[in-house]
Amino acid sequence: MSNANGKTRNVTVRVQRFNPDMDKKPHMQDFTVPMTPETTLLDALQYIKTELDGSVTFRKSCRHAICGSCAMHVNGANKLVCHTPLAESLTKNDTVTIGPLSYLPIIKDLVVDRTAFWEQYERVKPWLVPSDDMPETEFRVSQEEVAAVQNAETCIMCGACYSSCQVIAMNKQYIGPHALLKSFLRVLDPRDTIPGERLADVAGGDGVFRCHTIFNCIDACPKGLNPTQAIESLRKLAQRRIAFEEERRERRKHLAEPIK
Ligand code: F3S
Repeated sequence: MSNANGKTRNVTVRVQRFNPDMDKKPHMQDFTVPMTPETTLLDALQYIKTELDGSVTFRKSCRHAICGSCAMHVNGANKLVCHTPLAESLTKNDTVTIGPLSYLPIIKDLVVDRTAFWEQYERVKPWLVPSDDMPETEFRVSQEEVAAVQNAETCIMCGACYSSCQVIAMNKQYIGPHALLKSFLRVLDPRDTIPGERLADVAGGDGVFRCHTIFNCIDACPKGLNPTQAIESLRKLAQRRIAFEEERRERRKHLAEPIK
């Protein structure tokens, strides 16, 4: 039903609910929400929490697709709800269905336990390991070197790729597309001193060769990144790890020199 200005109409937001203190298993609950052309899914959830049921629980923070807090399962696909218009998410009967990210334990309603996700992230040492003999001037990195890591640098760690990967569903020991993308970022960073160690780590039984090239991670990424391509690059580099280490040692000798 539209209101007097013709721009607001009521739609149904179906939310997966689960309170571990009361419920044996998750169930769905429908809420009627007023929608304008500007309403996002996060606006709709915030309306439900503020106006209809304060117990509905979800994570959010920046509202600008930067913090990665609000990734959820929307009509069967992972989305950042702050960045997804409600109008574009409605099915034929003016309903949108929102659940928590798949393959992660539910803490309450739409909030999942990301412990396994962060453990795998830490496992790849996502920080830069520079040399002790830092140049006194800045590092000089070429356009090509920057372009090679651009993809991985834009990742906001929302978990959308991780929770869309069917290998994760079967095996929580798999490092996962999010962490492998970060490993790729560090391996290709010319300032990093441990690319060989990183490649040896990701070439182990839980790493790049565990990926079945399912491609769900590409479809799920709200930033349009390509973890599969990064995994493929890591596979190739792992197979020539010794030569790559030597190339990196040589490159690091010239890090302070102007790019030709
Ligand atoms: Fe999973 Fe992506 Fe590989 S969905 S199996 S990490 S291509």
